[in-house]
Amino acid sequence: MKRIAILTSGGDAPGMNAAVRAVTRKAIYEGMEVYGINYGYAGLVVGDIRRLDIPDVGDIIQRGGTRLFSARYPEFATEEGQLKGIEQLKKFGIEGLVVIGGDGSYHGAMALTKRGFPAIGIPGTIDNDIPGTDFTIGFDTAINTVLESIDRIRDTATSHVRTFVIEVMGRNAGDIALWAGVAGGADDIIIPEHEFDMESVANKIRDGRDRGKKHCLIVLAEGVMGAEEFAEQLSEYGNFHTRVSVLGHIVRGGSPTARDRVLASKFGGYAVDLLKEGKGGLCVGLLDNKLVAADIVDTLENKKHNPDLSLYQLNQALSF
Ligand code: F6P
Repeated sequence: MKRIAILTSGGDAPGMNAAVRAVTRKAIYEGMEVYGINYGYAGLVVGDIRRLDIPDVGDIIQRGGTRLFSARYPEFATEEGQLKGIEQLKKFGIEGLVVIGGDGSYHGAMALTKRGFPAIGIPGTIDNDIPGTDFTIGFDTAINTVLESIDRIRDTATSHVRTFVIEVMGRNAGDIALWAGVAGGADDIIIPEHEFDMESVANKIRDGRDRGKKHCLIVLAEGVMGAEEFAEQLSEYGNFHTRVSVLGHIVRGGSPTARDRVLASKFGGYAVDLLKEGKGGLCVGLLDNKLVAADIVDTLENKKHNPDLSLYQLNQALSF
């Protein structure tokens, strides 16, 4: 392959720029031409495509967000959208595409692959909910951002002897809540992948108070319910001086951690290696600390992402 393109799609994630940089630089190093597609699949169907050169990806490795911009574009699920996209790629003489994003973005890449256009998926989402990889680009930065907030909330929670329900993003996945909760010493972590009992949560807070504990921090994944609703339900079991804090999109921004930058660089370089060999229809990942590439159709249709529930059990033991 001599000419490839790259796009970022869905919710942006810190480290996407590092991946764009890696794909661009590695491809040019290998003698290929690279095109950047703005606004994900929305930009693809209208041909918002431009040549990328080394200076275009300078000074971005440390920046959050995505320099290629992003969009949610459900229209790409239609035959019309996909055919328009392929037409644009052919118009620019592009032979392979790298898609950086989450679940929706992978489905777009899978659709292109099924229509015979080679696409490679790179997992980029703060949610860490993509099958075929232990970690996605942006997850490490997101949990560190949540952790900083937990530490800050702990200060005020202790001062006022309050309970805090801290709601974090993650869509239907509990990974962000789980990892940040363990790192932040949360008293309880509530995730969609594990049932919980409100009365037990209340009893735990009461036991802590009886032992003289000042703060109580509950990290709640948004996929379970909203923090206000959780606090409302909790109040039926007693007055715990509860406050809620919804971290929201703050968790999606910021400079990527070293770990995310390295992961993004590895994925980007590897995706180019695969396209250079003429391989498409794959998604890259990191499993047991090894770079892997798997069939994107099989991964999406037959594999499931599971959070590390041993962390949940561990937290139960550490926060009784
Ligand atoms: O997938 C990333 C994510 O930030 C989820 O955690 C969240 O549920 C969703 O995107 C929010 O989407 P939007 O930015 O479109 O409101």
